[in-house]
Amino acid sequence: MQITRWKVFSTVAELRDAAINALLDSANVAIAVRGRFDLVLAGGTTPREIYHALCSKKADWEHWHIWYGDERCLPADNPERNSKMAQDVWLNHVPIPNQQTHSMLTELGAKAAVTNYNQLLNGVGDFDLVLLGMGEDGHTASLFPGHVWEDAAPTIAVSNAPKPPADRVSLSASRLSQARQVLFIVTGNNKRDAVQQWRNGAVLPVTAITPKAGVDVFADEAAT
Ligand code: 6PG
Repeated sequence: MQITRWKVFSTVAELRDAAINALLDSANVAIAVRGRFDLVLAGGTTPREIYHALCSKKADWEHWHIWYGDERCLPADNPERNSKMAQDVWLNHVPIPNQQTHSMLTELGAKAAVTNYNQLLNGVGDFDLVLLGMGEDGHTASLFPGHVWEDAAPTIAVSNAPKPPADRVSLSASRLSQARQVLFIVTGNNKRDAVQQWRNGAVLPVTAITPKAGVDVFADEAAT
């Protein structure tokens, strides 16, 4: 059962500012308590401006560890890659050590990427913060309605995804839930139906994310 805390913002700009503050606060606490901040990035377009704004923020970047919730099976430098977007607008501009940025190697195909990511995650405990978006059909990361959201291992190869490209790699719902904090960011009126279903208790990929501490959903008025 998901514990869900909704926060509705009148503008996308306010939502972004709140998300940036939540991220930086989470990093400060994690670094103060455990000496590192394990952050899982969302793909898609919604987080782009948030990532970009982080370039000009002060943070202990050397203690940040970056993971991806999902990735698209495309060449590493393809602009549609979630990692490429995050690198271009943010990661290439802050001093996070290269070995602490864990891209999914989907340029090698889903199977190889899954094997590699499972190895990388071996021994990694709870993530500090998992950032997620939501698609119009209630998908999150690359977990789609009607598809498998769990596997014995933490990383899943996804084929026939309804959102292109069809081949993707995703963390499972339970691995995404293994987190101290999960923050969804949902904007735009094309998300309204899925938000309605979510609030009405429908079973959707977004509702399968069930960390102990619950999830925070930052949505704008258009989406709600
Ligand atoms: C992806 C995603 C996906 C995304 C949602 C929302 O790789 O496509 O990780 O789950 O977060 O589809 O996408 P938008 O932010 O573009 O609406």
